[in-house]
Amino acid sequence: MSRFWNEKTRNIEPYVAGEQPKPGQKIIKLNTNENPYPASPKVREVLDQVDVPLLARYPETSSRIVREELAKYYGVRPEQVFCGNGSDEVLAFAFQAFFESGEDAKPLLVPDISYSFYPVYASLYNIPLKKIPLKEDFSIDVDAFCEDPQGGVAFANPNAPTSLAMPVSDVERILQANPDHVVLVDEAYAAFSDQSARVLLPKYKNLLVTGTLSKSHSLAGLRLGYVIADEELIEGMCRIRDSFNSYPVDQIAQKVAATAIADYDWVNENTRKICATRDRVRSELLKRGWNVPESATNFLFASPISTPAETVYTKLRGKGILVRYFNKPRIDQYLRITIGTDAEMDTMLKAIDEIAEGN
Ligand SMILES: Cc1ncc(COP(=O)(O)O)c(C=O)c1O
Repeated sequence: MSRFWNEKTRNIEPYVAGEQPKPGQKIIKLNTNENPYPASPKVREVLDQVDVPLLARYPETSSRIVREELAKYYGVRPEQVFCGNGSDEVLAFAFQAFFESGEDAKPLLVPDISYSFYPVYASLYNIPLKKIPLKEDFSIDVDAFCEDPQGGVAFANPNAPTSLAMPVSDVERILQANPDHVVLVDEAYAAFSDQSARVLLPKYKNLLVTGTLSKSHSLAGLRLGYVIADEELIEGMCRIRDSFNSYPVDQIAQKVAATAIADYDWVNENTRKICATRDRVRSELLKRGWNVPESATNFLFASPISTPAETVYTKLRGKGILVRYFNKPRIDQYLRITIGTDAEMDTMLKAIDEIAEGN
């Protein structure tokens, strides 16, 4: 605490990112939902050809080459795509662009258990928030989002940390019930599920879908997130970007991202592999008596049942395996386990067996 901090800095409760191992530390890292495999080999070719003199110039502001590739990939127009420095940044821009701030504003509706950056941004930008409890089975309470429309809606689908996906028909119900405000669907994990709200874009001008290359394209370190929405919403995003940082995506990131997105075969094969490992590990944990909802993401939300989740987390950590534990009501008996390579997951299962035996 410094006496020079202003009131906001004093009072804000920042987001706490998952633990990052120190360089050189031998750790199996299953705590931040990264992809365990290296990105498309074409990324290496781009990096080998980086044009250093070009770095003397500012990058193209709108990430045109990335927007064009995303537009091709998703079958939309480039004018419907916005890129930023990770989806965390595009979420921050969206909160500023579309949700009202101030004590008299109608609250933004979010699930009580979801991506923990939403309340942080709401607090940072003075957006009143109303948290809608998840149902007993951790699914999003669609009726509650429809009954009492307020100042907009934001949720992750599939949701984190629960790993559960809501059918597109339910997303549509929420859109229909909230026609006067933006409905933000955070699809950071949609590549690992079989559906996306993007199919609703032609019908709903208030739908904003965010995505990221962090999970599906093994590029968390590159920081490339995006929005797909109606052109008028994209224009709103650009107004905020150009009032904050006109060049959010650097020259190298733009080239790498465009190249990685264009390698469809790599993405398809990588996603298939992760989903296969996920389903195998889930059935292994079920065999051991754990409660593990069916995941539509690259992680499992898993409760050990017979041993407290925090104990398993601590013991795994002691064995060099990092998973995520949230000491929060309702989810404090669960671990969020990112899907690593098959070998990493086998090591984790072995460690879990040792823990069950008291070791
Ligand atoms: C639901 C959700 N949205 C957004 C993000 C942020 O992703 P990015 O790396 O694109 O900032 C995450 C990261 O874990 C996430 O879980």
